[in-house]
Order: sequence, then structure tokens, then C-alpha cells
Amino acid sequence: MLTDKERNLLIQSANEIRQWAYAPYSHYPVGAALLAASGRVYTGVNIENAAYPSGTCAERVAVFKAVSEGERQFSAIAVVTNNGGSPCGTCRQVLAEFGLDTVVIIADQEGKIIQETTVANLLPGSFGPGDLQKT
Ligand code: THU
Repeated sequence: MLTDKERNLLIQSANEIRQWAYAPYSHYPVGAALLAASGRVYTGVNIENAAYPSGTCAERVAVFKAVSEGERQFSAIAVVTNNGGSPCGTCRQVLAEFGLDTVVIIADQEGKIIQETTVANLLPGSFGPGDLQKT
């Protein structure tokens, strides 16, 4: 279970890190803060590119930072946008790789929680590591 302290820390971290979003094309800054089993929090922002498809989302930046530092298990991620937008399909898939039980907190720029759910709920019927074992 996520404590109120952890929830607030994740929302605040995701909101604060949005200042570093590189979003000159969409003008839609996104911040993410991911709580790993180790207790460390990894943040991410969206990083756009003049070649539009080369940009990436805040959630994936946070996951990739964490995984590249040895993390494999995550208890929760907060995603903050101006209007409380929902994580995209690709980010849902990337989160699913590391656990369907990860809590996803979606909040707006005031820190108001729009939705608190899990990766499993956001990506029903997901394809995961277990599917590759079936022959
Ligand atoms: N974006 C994210 O960072 N996360 C999401 O889950 C949805 C979309 C970014 C991508 C792009 O930089 C901007 O928001 C507009 O789509």
C-alpha cells in the first residue's frame, strides 16, 4: 500500500520536474515520478524532437532511468500534466513489463488526483514477459 507521504512526494516530484520538460512543439509539459522497490524516486519529463516521432514521454524516461540503474520493481508512478491527462499506450506497455500492480497516480498541475489506478487496469489483456514462455 502506498502511504499518503509517498503519494504526495510522487505528485510533488512529478509536478516540479515538469519545469525541465522539453516540449517546444506540443507545449504540453509532462512530469513523472516513479517509486522503486529500493525506495528511490526516479523522475522523467517528455523530451520532444524536431523529427516528431523521435520524441519520448515522461513516464518512459523515468522507467528507463530507473532500469538503467538496476531497478526492476516499482510500487507507484505519478504522472502530472496541466490537465490530468492519462498515460499513453506505449508508456502503459513499458510499465506493464515491470509489473501490473504498479499504482498509477494521474494528477493535474494543482496536484489534484484525477485518477488513481494500476497498470493492470490501464492495460487489460496486456502482452507481458509470461507470454513469451508459452509455446
Ligand atoms: N506525453 C507524455 O509525456 N506522456 C504521456 O503519457 C502522454 C503524452 C507527451 C508526449 C508529447 O511530448 C506531449 O506529451 C504531447 O503528446
